[in-house]
Amino acid sequence: MRLAVFNQKGGVGKTTTALNLAAGIALDLHPVRLIDLDPQAHLSAIHGAPPADWRQSIYAHFPDSTPLADLEVDWEGLGRFIPAHAELMKVDSAFGKGPEVLERLNRGLRDLDRLAPRRLTVIDCCPYLGVLALNAIFAADVLIVPVSSDYLSMRGAEQVERTLKALEPVLRRRVERRYLLTRFDRRRRMSFEVESTLRERFGSDVCATTISENVAVAESPAMRRDIFSHAAASRGAADYARLIEELTSQRFLRV
Ligand SMILES: Nc1ncnc2c1ncn2[C@@H]1O[C@H](COP(=O)(O)OP(=O)(O)O)[C@@H](O)[C@H]1O
Ligand SMILES: [Mg+2]
Repeated sequence: MRLAVFNQKGGVGKTTTALNLAAGIALDLHPVRLIDLDPQAHLSAIHGAPPADWRQSIYAHFPDSTPLADLEVDWEGLGRFIPAHAELMKVDSAFGKGPEVLERLNRGLRDLDRLAPRRLTVIDCCPYLGVLALNAIFAADVLIVPVSSDYLSMRGAEQVERTLKALEPVLRRRVERRYLLTRFDRRRRMSFEVESTLRERFGSDVCATTISENVAVAESPAMRRDIFSHAAASRGAADYARLIEELTSQRFLRV
């Protein structure tokens, strides 16, 4: 299975969720492959130094279809990782939006899944809808859409829903998505208001699990760690573990 973590809005917890989902799955369920598909390369910075040369990043897969197997590196304790590079910013202008380029990641992952069939893929997306995000959506079995608990984020979720509704006739399938409330702060009424609006609007496409605002989650990237290795007893670790249980029960985490 392949999960892509996407929202056109920035700062909603995409990278945090991609990292902690991957780490929790690797800890309890299956070997994982994490892909950084964001030119900002935040995940690659958490992994270590992003590669200086774009030929060692996921970007290399776009101009000349470099096999993804050649771009994977180890992520200790987590599995395999394909880093990003700032050059990814050029993908939209360089390769257009033809059907061939939009399927490129899907095809690359199909080859890679044949080589390593028991590995689950998690993709961290960029905060805009272009060739990169479309590649992730086309390649994914399910989209996880983090929505931070504030009003503007709710508008971001509406925008994602409109985008998916427009894409579905092109893809000729429903895009499975799970909206995930993040940065939920029980002390703020706004968090509960955003939650009830989201559940009213998107019903069973909203995860039952919510991710709380949690200091350990916020500080773990600075330690270059996921929440389970940084603070296994934290509320953030419990929330992400519960999310993994929920997605498992919905059969989204099979290999
Ligand atoms: N549950 C959380 N509790 C506290 N801080 C969080 C939480 N989730 C994300 N953050 C912080 O919010 C900021 C944005 O998160 P990030 O995952 O980088 O979002 P995105 O990838 O969508 O831009 C980061 O500083 C991150 O550490
Ligand atoms: Mg990010």
